[in-house]
Amino acid sequence: MSEVKNKIVLSGVQPSGNLHIGNYLGAIKNFVSMQDNYNCFFCIVDLHAITVKHDPKILRKNTLEVAATYIASGIDPKKSIIFNQSSIPAHAELAWIFNCVTRMGWLSRMTQFKDKAGKDKENASSGLFIYPNLMAADILIYKATHVPVGNDQKQHLELTRDIAQKFNRDFDCENFFPIPEPIIDKDISRIMSLKDGNQKMSKSDSSEYSRISLLDESDEIIKKIRKAKTADNLMPEKIEEIIKLDEVNNLLNIYSGFSGTDKQLLIEQYKGQNFSNFKSDLSDVLVEKIKPITVEIKKLMEEKEYILNVLLEGQNKANEVAQETIKQVYDIVGLLRNET
Ligand code: AMP
Ligand code: TRP
Repeated sequence: MSEVKNKIVLSGVQPSGNLHIGNYLGAIKNFVSMQDNYNCFFCIVDLHAITVKHDPKILRKNTLEVAATYIASGIDPKKSIIFNQSSIPAHAELAWIFNCVTRMGWLSRMTQFKDKAGKDKENASSGLFIYPNLMAADILIYKATHVPVGNDQKQHLELTRDIAQKFNRDFDCENFFPIPEPIIDKDISRIMSLKDGNQKMSKSDSSEYSRISLLDESDEIIKKIRKAKTADNLMPEKIEEIIKLDEVNNLLNIYSGFSGTDKQLLIEQYKGQNFSNFKSDLSDVLVEKIKPITVEIKKLMEEKEYILNVLLEGQNKANEVAQETIKQVYDIVGLLRNET
């Protein structure tokens, strides 16, 4: 047990509103399951959220809402360290060092930058371009060994590994930063839009019907599943056929992710039928699993003092570790520190 506890987990979610079941299945559900066996740091990455246009008034509320969602989903502040990124200055300090380690070529290959910057790259913030360096700093400031994320973050994790390796090599400090492992679940790490099985379920999709939010009421969940795209034919028998039907495959992944029932067993149960029973059972499962979380998030949002306290405690604990690492990094890099 104690050996396992040496393993350190860090992950983060942006406070950009509209947390959905993709965030839950791809990331938060895994956070909950790791907290007994790892030393866990879960942050709310508010500095990442300002790399695109945002409303300062809403950002603070969204930050509290992600903290509430963590707790409501089962992250226990007594077991895990919960905090917001901007409360620990060492994240930004280490990110600056990494700005000087990462190569421009590495950053220019990042698909998330290309997606988010869109056609008008000249007009994207420079923060959006160097965003992965800050993410690497979030992880490496705690010398995290494991990072549970959705599939869309795989490339950023690979970059983090490259940064850690280059730093260790350039400054001749082998093993200073660990090379962190991504934890990405095969089927549920990429939940797709309910309207288009080729598009990732996203906070920023203009259609509410593309996603199920963790704050949706039960009737909204039922309506969204009823309207979700499926296929013209009946539920196929073979997984090879199902994989070709992106939307059906996605609904099966969601069903399996929330119910814990193996996908193959679900296929056995619904094969040869039209999709109405399947959809109605799926809605039941979603309502049953999401409703307690929604109720708890709303309750916690009425108890802001409690959330602020959790964040402050987390900040104090995280800061201790982060301060130690940044001190070591400044020494390694040769920055003068006049210790008082
Ligand atoms: P973000 O909302 O971009 O901060 O993402 C928070 C976490 O949720 C990250 O680990 C993402 O990889 C994960 N995530 C976001 N969207 C999805 C999705 N559609 N399916 C699975 N995981 C997702
Ligand atoms: N980039 C991640 C996302 O968009 C959020 C994030 C920031 C993160 N820092 C992190 C995830 C560190 C894992 C570890 O989803």
